[in-house]
Amino acid sequence: MATHKLLLLPGDGIGPEVAAEVEKLVAWFTKAGIAAFETERDLVGGAAYDAHGAAISEDAMKRAMQADAVLFGAVGGPQWADVAYEVRPEAGLLRLRKDLALFANLRPAICYAALADASSLKKELVEGLDILIVRELTGGVYFGEPKEIVTLENGQKRAVDTQLYTTGEIERITRVAFDLAKKRRNKVSSAEKHNVMKSGVLWKQVVTDIHKREFAEVELEHVLADNCAMQLVKNPKQYDVIVCDNLFGDILSDVAAMLTGSLGMLPSASLGAEDASGKRKALYEPVHGSAPDIAGRQLANPIAMIGSLAMCLRYSFGLIEAADMLERAITDTLTDGVRTGDIAAPGMNTVSTSGMGDAILERLQTLAR
Ligand code: IPM
Ligand code: MN
Repeated sequence: MATHKLLLLPGDGIGPEVAAEVEKLVAWFTKAGIAAFETERDLVGGAAYDAHGAAISEDAMKRAMQADAVLFGAVGGPQWADVAYEVRPEAGLLRLRKDLALFANLRPAICYAALADASSLKKELVEGLDILIVRELTGGVYFGEPKEIVTLENGQKRAVDTQLYTTGEIERITRVAFDLAKKRRNKVSSAEKHNVMKSGVLWKQVVTDIHKREFAEVELEHVLADNCAMQLVKNPKQYDVIVCDNLFGDILSDVAAMLTGSLGMLPSASLGAEDASGKRKALYEPVHGSAPDIAGRQLANPIAMIGSLAMCLRYSFGLIEAADMLERAITDTLTDGVRTGDIAAPGMNTVSTSGMGDAILERLQTLAR
């Protein structure tokens, strides 16, 4: 059995708490003989800044490059609010995405039947929801140059961010979206703002071309990104796969997350291109942040992080059965009424972060028998 090298970067805030639950599961998969993992651990974000003065050390970057997959917790917190922009906690995550060339960010939003009441939307709007946001992750306004604040002659300051996309960048993310749609409900909605932005004009054109040339059998619709945000809260089940740029994807995936009941539910996969041997660099992380307000108190919901491990089994290692089993264990746990505070209905008993991790592990063991 091949040994898979994992790099665990728990980060800040609730990151270490939710990462600890994933470690339990990784250890179990290895012990049960389902897969063999070797786990290394390192610092990222504010924790790395405190130790090394950088949001990620060169050594940790090297380990990330050599790992078969990176499992990432969360970064940031008020104690680093005043550190220099270049070394702020988020810079560690952005460097990982850029240097590992993780251009495809998959953010599935699934509303579990047991949680349909936890959403802020009406139950009938979200029950059975299963959409996938495919977010471009290494381009656009996140990385475009110039990116600066300059002082003008009159003493005013001028801030510039640059939204920038090339044909190739749009083509490769579009292909990922269409490929995934073919295994789902065969529909892609491409969100941009071609009515205001040149990058939107190019985006729409490239998506249309790729569709015509390579994926004519998949249904394609174009939607303005602001309208897409509105449609997501009005009638989210009309969507299957939504493909969009880096910034729109950031915003739309937070909206989608809340449809499922809690930001604590959404996993994500960030994937690079396949190399000649069919391997790809990958990082898996929950969509939620470091939640400093509840950190260190065992209140965080580890499901987004555990769901990210399931995505890792599926996309990095082709361990489809193990991934299915882990996702099933999450569903069973929720069906049995186990809840962390963020997804509990009034009057329900709640468990701690590790209580939820243990409950999922228990069901996983039952399923494996
Ligand atoms: C996300 C986060 C990040 C982003 C931050 C932490 C840099 O919000 O992964 O959605 O903006 O991409
Ligand atoms: Mn975000």
